Amino acid sequence: KLLCFVEKYLEPFRLSLEKLKEVSVRLKKDLIRGLGKHSHHRAAVKMLPTFVRATPDGTEKGDYLALDLGGTNFRVLYVRVVEEQQKVVKMDSKICSIPQEMMLGTGEQLFDHIAQCLGEFLESQDLKGQTLPLGFTFSFPCEQKEIDKSILIRWTKGFSCSGVEGQDVVKLLKEAIHRRGDYDIGSVAMVNDTVGTMMSCGYRDQSCEIGMIIGTGTNACYMEEIKNVKRVEGEDGRMCINTEWGGFGDDGSLKDILTEFDEVVDQTSINPGVHTFEKMISGMYLGEIVRLLLVKMAEDKLLFKGETSEALLTPGQFETKYISEIEDGLENAQKILTALGLNWDPVDACVVRLVCDTISSRSARLCAAALATISNRIRVNRGLDHLKTTVGVDGTVYRKHPNFSEELQAAVRLLAPKCDITFLVSEDGSGKGAAMVTAVAQRIWLPGCMLSFIFLPIFVYI
Ligand code: GLC
Repeated sequence: KLLCFVEKYLEPFRLSLEKLKEVSVRLKKDLIRGLGKHSHHRAAVKMLPTFVRATPDGTEKGDYLALDLGGTNFRVLYVRVVEEQQKVVKMDSKICSIPQEMMLGTGEQLFDHIAQCLGEFLESQDLKGQTLPLGFTFSFPCEQKEIDKSILIRWTKGFSCSGVEGQDVVKLLKEAIHRRGDYDIGSVAMVNDTVGTMMSCGYRDQSCEIGMIIGTGTNACYMEEIKNVKRVEGEDGRMCINTEWGGFGDDGSLKDILTEFDEVVDQTSINPGVHTFEKMISGMYLGEIVRLLLVKMAEDKLLFKGETSEALLTPGQFETKYISEIEDGLENAQKILTALGLNWDPVDACVVRLVCDTISSRSARLCAAALATISNRIRVNRGLDHLKTTVGVDGTVYRKHPNFSEELQAAVRLLAPKCDITFLVSEDGSGKGAAMVTAVAQRIWLPGCMLSFIFLPIFVYI
């Protein structure tokens, strides 16, 4: 009987295969809208050209710096691309935390902090005298004008620094470095984390043409036929498109699957109305959805003898990592409920586990619908009856959750039966992948290479 009551709360989160197919059809239309010359301004799914034209061919080499901003931490890396061994080696790296106040402060403070962290790293590596090329993984939607000119459209996830939206991020970084005046950097390549992930996997598997992130945020990129990218000139070859699928639904197209809990998560976030799809899927929000459900169920006397606790009533206190831990075993569930100050019994622990499972399943299945849409698009683009392709994946939710990847893969198989997809977990796409993009961009920039760039389908369009 209890389960029947519980099911009433969970039912709106259970998406049937039919519903997922509908979602996929809607996204398919949105991808086309985002690619259109005149329709892209109003498109919820931005479909941003990245100026990356193909995946690596293994002839890239050299030393690079990489910055990674937008995930759990801010990182600086020193990376070597070794041609003979066809691999990217991380020489050293440093993690710098970005305090919450800074994520919501001024852009100048943020970039000064980044420049300081980079300066300290260069000092420690004895690299201050060199001007190394730098790959900047900046995991936010940017309108890229060139590989080294990237205008932030809007902040997403936990960031909201003033004076950055509408500005060129490369310029802001260089200005901060010049304000210090104690070191300099070489050419810069701007990279979204999805692109870095695809590129780092592309080095290992040439058929990797999709990059997907399911971490703090969610997003994917893929190789699109240039002739379909109406904003970019050219008829032949392909270009990597950063879909920014997190924005799917921002025009109301997902209204029928949003629950009252999703609405609250959106309204209490720092960017209401923005990134609807992401808020149903990614690590920044899943814990909060579960927390809101548990509070409601406790208030309705279905859990914890009708009692809550201060921790459970505090936004953000139920972390997304608890979902993975709880689903991993009932013992973990009990420990976490105790730590949250809840008066639980064994049935409560089982119900909480069921809630976690329902929310993470919905996330995995929605991602599957989106990934199926993209794979089907690639297949149809190429006039194939059957597509064999590889997806480079990264992100804490995908990596850490006990059965997220299996659930996602099973649903993709049903939603894209004509696509045979291999999933490759990226090895530090945001660090090594960014260096890879920079290496490719550098190669194209070398004098004399411009000609080959015009005639051959090489990577980065500058
Ligand atoms: C957010 C960002 C996007 C990024 C994703 C994953 O959706 O807007 O650019 O790729 O998070 O980090």
